[in-house]
Amino acid sequence: MGNNNSTFKRKNKKIVLDKNETMDLEVGKDLKYYLPNNYEDIDRIHMFHFFQRYIYQGNFSSPIEERLMQEKCKVLDIGCGPGTWLLDLANKYEKSLFHGLDNNSIFPNEIKPSNLNFMKADMFDGLPFPDNEFDFVHQGTMAFIIKADQWTFIISEMIRVTKPGGFVEIHEPYCISKGFGPILNKINEAHISSCLQRGVDMKLLPNLDKIIKSNPNTPITYKDEKFYILGPNGGKIGMVNQDIFIGFHDNDVAMENLSPVLGISKEEYKIMMTKDLIEELKYTSPEYSLIRFWAKKIN
Ligand SMILES: C[S@@+](CC[C@H](N)C(=O)[O-])C[C@H]1O[C@@H](n2cnc3c(N)ncnc32)[C@H](O)[C@@H]1O
Repeated sequence: MGNNNSTFKRKNKKIVLDKNETMDLEVGKDLKYYLPNNYEDIDRIHMFHFFQRYIYQGNFSSPIEERLMQEKCKVLDIGCGPGTWLLDLANKYEKSLFHGLDNNSIFPNEIKPSNLNFMKADMFDGLPFPDNEFDFVHQGTMAFIIKADQWTFIISEMIRVTKPGGFVEIHEPYCISKGFGPILNKINEAHISSCLQRGVDMKLLPNLDKIIKSNPNTPITYKDEKFYILGPNGGKIGMVNQDIFIGFHDNDVAMENLSPVLGISKEEYKIMMTKDLIEELKYTSPEYSLIRFWAKKIN
């Protein structure tokens, strides 16, 4: 799985990537910390997908599996990244048709199932599809990108392109700082404050169901939150998540963004991530969660 094509195009410019080389994504410098920057980030997105699937024992919570198996359903994933969720579904539900949208072409264009297509587009321009087009519209791990005042628009677009009787579903990771040691607490606060500087309010997340419900077409919204412990006290799953978490924070782009917010040097940041935090996780049990929201479109 993943992008086997090492050539990326941007504004007529061809960029050849080696492993670990930074991708020239069409985003501001500060956002690069939240987006895939190299092949290790893409590997981490794949790993996080399988982690989420394991926690929920499934790829989605909407009651649509039977339709996906039996009918020619149309499914859209917004901000699909390297297409991990879609590849997993497209292989399993061969009768259905899958579409991925992302404003960066990090999805596979050549090696992919024939029932899967990708499109480059910016979701903030509105979804480039007619009303009532899809049976299932999904979006995952986009909360670092969507500003507080953009959620209503993005959710209304998801609902607009969903057929009556179809489903919209959103997946996001979350935490309420329960069981955090002082180091993780500092990192978390820095992350929240760096998001707020861009207008992104992570604390909105548990209430996304209120935004979905406020749309007259999706009055009944379901929410399912699953909890896990980060680090060795969370067992195997905690260790897998520790790898994902450290990888997400222990890189040059994250260091550039977070060390000034933390008021420490880059060297101190590196030690914090690769030594101090790992040590702290041995004797703390920080709680994290994954949240899924889903709703049926009635009209
Ligand atoms: C953290 S990744 C999540 C990828 C995938 N949804 C997942 O759960 O594995 C966020 C993705 O959103 C994409 N993205 C960011 N801004 C976007 C925009 N304005 N329109 C479409 N996609 C966007 C990024 O390029 C990136 O692939």
